[in-house]
Amino acid sequence: MSEWIFAVCCGVPLAIIALHITVRLARHFSKFPIPQALTQLIDHPLRRKFIQPPDKTAIRHGIRPGMCVLEVGPGTGTYTLAAARRVGPEGKVVAIDIEPKIIERLNRRIRAEGVVNLEARVADVYDLPFDDGIFDLIFMITVIGEIPDVPRALAEFHRVLKPDGRLVFSELFPDPDYPLANALTRRVESEGFRLKEKIGNFFYYTLIFKKT
Ligand SMILES: C[S@@+](CC[C@H](N)C(=O)[O-])C[C@H]1O[C@@H](n2cnc3c(N)ncnc32)[C@H](O)[C@@H]1O
Repeated sequence: MSEWIFAVCCGVPLAIIALHITVRLARHFSKFPIPQALTQLIDHPLRRKFIQPPDKTAIRHGIRPGMCVLEVGPGTGTYTLAAARRVGPEGKVVAIDIEPKIIERLNRRIRAEGVVNLEARVADVYDLPFDDGIFDLIFMITVIGEIPDVPRALAEFHRVLKPDGRLVFSELFPDPDYPLANALTRRVESEGFRLKEKIGNFFYYTLIFKKT
């Protein structure tokens, strides 16, 4: 038994470190979206129970009933569906992802669960298919580290957000694309946003920005 505990205590951190090194090396040469199959690994029950419970995460993000919300990079859609529950029948959630398979899978889930205030479509953050100033809030969870040209994406977020809109990032340390909160704050603040609130700690955090 003690060998098992020792193996888990050493093996898990070592596996995370090895994953970080491998992905960061690969990212040095090219940035690419996470393969669709891996998004299911990220959507782990332990994460949903202890670290980022979906409904609590929607509240932590500042999503309120009636809002019009954009999620970038929904993965399996667990947090997208929680956002749709939170905005309620008067609100709307739109999810976009660059990977068609992610959107196909999410659309199947939306139909199966009979959700009517949620729409998922294929789109790139560099060219959002929306009018100016229509969203109350944009959120993304473990996504920004996969975007090669962050200023270009931030310009699009700025454009489609309402003047008093919020831009929200949540990050999780085991994600190999995890950015440090201070570094992400500096980047976002240099593109027309100001940090309004920081929640969490080194291992998982949420940053909420407003437009300046
Ligand atoms: C690590 S997954 C995050 C999944 C989900 N948010 C979660 O936390 O479980 C990152 C997602 O961002 C998407 N993505 C990466 N680059 C993108 C881009 N340029 N435009 C839109 N989506 C992008 C990927 O396809 C992937 O679905």
